[in-house]
Amino acid sequence: MVRMAPSILAADFSRLGELVTTVEHAGADRIHIDVMDGHFVPNLSMGSVVVKGLRPITKLPLEVHLMVTNPEVFLDGFLDAGADTLIVHLEVVPDPTALMARVRARGKKFGLAFNPDCAVNRIFQYLSDIDVALCMTVFPGFGGQAFLPSSTSRIAELRREIDGLNPMCDLEVDGGIDLNTAPVAVAAGANVLVAGSAIFGASGGPAAAMAGFRDIL
Ligand code: DX5
Ligand code: ZN
Repeated sequence: MVRMAPSILAADFSRLGELVTTVEHAGADRIHIDVMDGHFVPNLSMGSVVVKGLRPITKLPLEVHLMVTNPEVFLDGFLDAGADTLIVHLEVVPDPTALMARVRARGKKFGLAFNPDCAVNRIFQYLSDIDVALCMTVFPGFGGQAFLPSSTSRIAELRREIDGLNPMCDLEVDGGIDLNTAPVAVAAGANVLVAGSAIFGASGGPAAAMAGFRDIL
């Protein structure tokens, strides 16, 4: 079954709580929270205060995608605020063992993300131990970019390895996922779709957009 993870980066922040409730009722499986430090990526977004604010208003798991150079500095703050899953980038944490142990010690899930120019096989050695493998399908930093076609073979390569090593690990894709690219990513092997613009920027509103995803998946 394919899971939906709306990314609030594309949401109207003056209505954040209401919009998260809307996608929850529309069948979202988790909420994806994009954290950017202006260093690992050329943009700033949000901090743990947003997780803290959302925690009481939704039962959905809150998944934090840390696009930051020093994830070890921020990890506990997000866990204290109520995050359920922490995802860090392999580019800045070549050996994630210690961070993974810290997250697991608090009973939370741990994921690894990697950019479109990172060799997919760099993540293979960790697949047995992680909950989420996040394959970036754009270069991170901004919502609303186009899905990179080269992602398809990368997703397929990752899917083969996950099936062999740890089928429970989610294969999540992030960037440019819409009604056209979602079937492509799923056919290649993705089972969790992050979507920002295609949900919160949809002309018919997020509930209709979620229904659109449900129909095609
Ligand atoms: C990219 C972020 C994504 C982004 C996706 O830097 O990690 O999660 O919000 O946005 P869309 O769906 O608009 O490409
Ligand atoms: Zn993300």
